[in-house]
Amino acid sequence: MNDRVLVTGGAGYLGSHTVLTLLESGKEVVVLDNFSNSSHHSIDGIERICGKRPIVVQADARDSLALSHVFQKYDIEAVFHFAGLKSVEESVRTPEVYYEENIGTTLNIAEQMRIAGVRALVFSSSATVYDPSETPPYGEASKTGPNNPYGQTKLLIEQTLTDLANINDQWSIGLLRYFNPVGAHPSGHIGEAPSGKPNNLMPLLMQVGIGKADKLFIFGDNYDTPDGTCIRDFIHVMDLARGHIAALRFLQKTNGIHTWNLGTGIGTSVRELIQFVERVTGTEIPKEVVGRRKGDSSVAVADPSKAFNELDWRPEHTIENMCIDHWNWQKLHPDGY
Ligand code: NAD
Ligand code: UFG
Repeated sequence: MNDRVLVTGGAGYLGSHTVLTLLESGKEVVVLDNFSNSSHHSIDGIERICGKRPIVVQADARDSLALSHVFQKYDIEAVFHFAGLKSVEESVRTPEVYYEENIGTTLNIAEQMRIAGVRALVFSSSATVYDPSETPPYGEASKTGPNNPYGQTKLLIEQTLTDLANINDQWSIGLLRYFNPVGAHPSGHIGEAPSGKPNNLMPLLMQVGIGKADKLFIFGDNYDTPDGTCIRDFIHVMDLARGHIAALRFLQKTNGIHTWNLGTGIGTSVRELIQFVERVTGTEIPKEVVGRRKGDSSVAVADPSKAFNELDWRPEHTIENMCIDHWNWQKLHPDGY
């Protein structure tokens, strides 16, 4: 068996950290990315850190010819599928774009993998697939029922891949449900570089910290939580990346469909995160409490014990590390790459 992994969306935030971790583990990597939400400089950053560069193919993951060419040219052992659209808000405005892109990319990848005889796939799913009315922490068996089109695309893809694995036992597929990935590689050479105004809490806090935004709006402080703000399970992007390597190791030994939460199991409230960021940046974050954001659940925390036990994987970074590394990246790259 060869040692080459195809990473779709490998130039993006989570993909780039995972590509780095794959290269560091001795794998060869082919990145397929259309660079719709990323920069070639993330690839330079990877090389700067580890001295190795992945092969880069600039193409859309819905392009069957491009993908078939990649499988013919390179001997691929497994696919990590990150490519896709990820904004909950945008998905509410343009659901058809989300269904077309997220499902279209996955169907094409599955089809081209089948033709090429490649059967190991790790898919980037999300904690947003869980029904927000379920009582946290969420285990993999908790009820699903996303309340937005983005989450629906993830759930539909999970169902499609489950059917695929159930009908042909040669497939080994990992569905990784990420909670809230934050942070950056400690070198600060790669990190999260959202194009346009970010929607997520951590990149927004960083922008306020560096003076690119005036203040943070806290979306509601009347939730049923100790300080009234929502609670999330933040996970360091490097721990998330290692989770992928652990999943691949498992899938190389065990066929079938497997679902794992990638989270820490530790909840941090919006207010607590602001305090951590204030401590790390040494600045006070101007903030204002406004109304709730539609669709937010009060607490989203993982029960990660299945991943801990089956993958022999544990997150190593504290919430403070996450803030330190994200801030380091932000300071070195105030305008992104
Ligand atoms: P990102 O936007 O930084 O990375 C996605 C990458 O895919 C980008 O490089 C983009 O250019 C590329 N891409 C998009 N559409 C493509 C297409 N059709 N063909 C080829 N390349 C394409 O996002 P991210 O934060 O790294 O997220 C990666 C994956 O993880 C996504 O599937 C996302 O839904 C999922 N996820 C992310 C989070 C999070 O908070 N970041 C949480 C849960 C799940
Ligand atoms: N928040 C604010 N102000 C902001 C932005 C966010 O108060 O300006 C709050 C939100 O209300 C929420 C918390 O910060 O309570 C976290 O919000 P994020 O937007 O950072 O993250 P979400 O938990 O809403 O969603 C993220 C990703 C999804 C992914 C999900 C998995 O955006 O793609 O985590 O749990 F699916």
